[in-house]
Amino acid sequence: MAQLGGFKKIKTAVFISGKGSNLKNLIKFSKLKKSPISIDLIVSNNPKSKGIIFAKKNKIQKKIYNFELITSEQKLLTFLRYKKIKLICLAGFMKILSIKFIKKFNGKILNIHPSLLPKYKGLNTHQRAIINKEKYSGCTVHFVNSKLDSGKIILQKTVKINKLDTPSKLAKKVLREEHKLYPKAILKIFNR
Ligand code: GRF
Repeated sequence: MAQLGGFKKIKTAVFISGKGSNLKNLIKFSKLKKSPISIDLIVSNNPKSKGIIFAKKNKIQKKIYNFELITSEQKLLTFLRYKKIKLICLAGFMKILSIKFIKKFNGKILNIHPSLLPKYKGLNTHQRAIINKEKYSGCTVHFVNSKLDSGKIILQKTVKINKLDTPSKLAKKVLREEHKLYPKAILKIFNR
């Protein structure tokens, strides 16, 4: 187990599907002395996920699974146990994990969602917030339970929606806040 600054870092896997900007940021955070986590594994369901590049760059092991195959989750669980992974951070991971999987990692899976939950669960959050003329949106880090985007909230950050914001402009603004919020939430749950 990685040991830095007098405490053992918690072995963590980050699950991604896309660009991986949150992953990149979590890797940067994990290298800080104050970080309670080390990132020991990157998992993707998408071989084309751009974020996979951060595995090689940072010499972190990566695994790609086809979650359409029913055997994949079991294989992944076995591998996570072998790697002694104790925490999973979902970061733009576009697959819904099975209840069985979530139960095995009960209370040890975190997710970041680009809305102020419980508002706008699911996809296209920015578009929906703008259509509904919301004044504010934001992001949420929460524990994962068996219901989509419904686990206990750890931290949220509000972002103002301007009149001229498009979904992609708003997504960029929220993403900048996500990069700050995820490390803060991890520090919070480990009382650091
Ligand atoms: C983020 O907005 C995250 O909240 C959402 O998907 C996006 C992923 O971005 N679930 P990235 O892959 O971390 O850049």
